[in-house]
Amino acid sequence: MDYLKIKGKSALNGTIKISGAKNASLPLIAMTILARNSVIIKNLPDVADIKTLLKLLTNLGASCDFHDDKVVVDTASMNETKATYDIVKTMRASILVLGPILARFGHCEVSLPGGCAIGQRPIDLHLKALEQMGAEISIKAGYIEARAPKGLKGCEIIFDKITVTGTANIVMAAALAEGETTIINAAREPEVVQLCEVLNASGVKIEGIGTAVLKVHGTAGELLDIKEFSIIPDRIEAGTYLCAGAITGSKLTLTDVEPNHLGAVIAKFEEMGFELTLTKDTITIHPNKEIKPVKIVTQEYPAFPTDMQAQFMALATQANGVSIIEERLFENRFMHVSELQRMGADISLSGHTATINGKCDLSATDVMATDLRASSALVLAALIAQGETNVHRIYHLDRGYDSLEKKLKDVGVVVERLKEGL
Ligand code: EPZ
Repeated sequence: MDYLKIKGKSALNGTIKISGAKNASLPLIAMTILARNSVIIKNLPDVADIKTLLKLLTNLGASCDFHDDKVVVDTASMNETKATYDIVKTMRASILVLGPILARFGHCEVSLPGGCAIGQRPIDLHLKALEQMGAEISIKAGYIEARAPKGLKGCEIIFDKITVTGTANIVMAAALAEGETTIINAAREPEVVQLCEVLNASGVKIEGIGTAVLKVHGTAGELLDIKEFSIIPDRIEAGTYLCAGAITGSKLTLTDVEPNHLGAVIAKFEEMGFELTLTKDTITIHPNKEIKPVKIVTQEYPAFPTDMQAQFMALATQANGVSIIEERLFENRFMHVSELQRMGADISLSGHTATINGKCDLSATDVMATDLRASSALVLAALIAQGETNVHRIYHLDRGYDSLEKKLKDVGVVVERLKEGL
């Protein structure tokens, strides 16, 4: 296993190119199951989760040719409809193949993804919606068995909770269903918007894109001709690097970014006293002498994203005053707190609310990553800790951050990737 050794207190300077969004790439790769043609996808991030999903598709018989940031996926040769535990257990977003496989083949078995560090992560809403579309679903020996011998039928679906991958799964299932599917209380994340836009451009008429009510006109089993497309920028990677600039008091410019996807995050930086300069595809954050405390409640897009919660908690340790962060989406998304406390942060928890008393001088030590975004919070803390911090179990980081240490080194961070025990 690898770990990162990070020397604190370096000021950053320069520009960071933002990669394609992991959470847009995953549903869009699953969407290739709906295509009759070979699909070209560009601007993919080089992260473990993408490789995992491509491996899953290969195991199902598809061909995936992934070079640099481009993949060509041909699912014409798919001859398997069972997504097995060995792969699904490493990435719960594998559940995104359920809707497309069921829609195309009429049957599908997917290992139950199980929970993860941040929470139970149920998929009941995915399954309930597919049953409403006519699927027969049973759970046997840890697998979801779904059948729709007569194909899926469009209907009205009301999601009890807003679910990002749930919305993506049902949009993809509805794309090949017979008739119209109306999804009420749909997720509006940019990653869901891009999925709808690509499907819409491929002959699946979708109304209400970007709103909470989507109407999908299915092709009644007709496979799609999907034109080449490029993945949108990763707004969470961008927000994470803006936090790196903010926490080190540096001027940092991000390129190949979509500022419109970061409205709530930019607003919070400004509330904390930072000035940000935006252009069509760049964001520059400027040093700020006095970081003001902040109040954050994580909610669905376009509100403040849960995937930026841990990173802002690290930043809040450097604010002058008391910050409050409430995590409303996941029941256990404070795993970074104990590690930040070990670095000297003064944070107390009460239920889903964290109170951060700043400003705290953090000291370097050995810390352990527990999940993707918690790991990035520890890297941020290490940037301003006195001394050299070792961040262990960084396979979590590798799941969602493309070339993290290279991007940090290029703007002046002293960081190296080392092997445990050597
Ligand atoms: C997506 O996860 C993202 N992952 C997560 O990013 C992100 O944190 C999350 O959306 C929220 O924005 C991908 O897109 C691959 P949800 P997802 O279904 O779709 C409950 C990262 O760091 N729920 O929107 O799994 C659920 O428990 C990852 O990149 C049900 O109760 O999240 C949660 O409380 C972490 N039943 C809430 O809804 C269901 O059937 C939102 O979950 C589905 C969800």
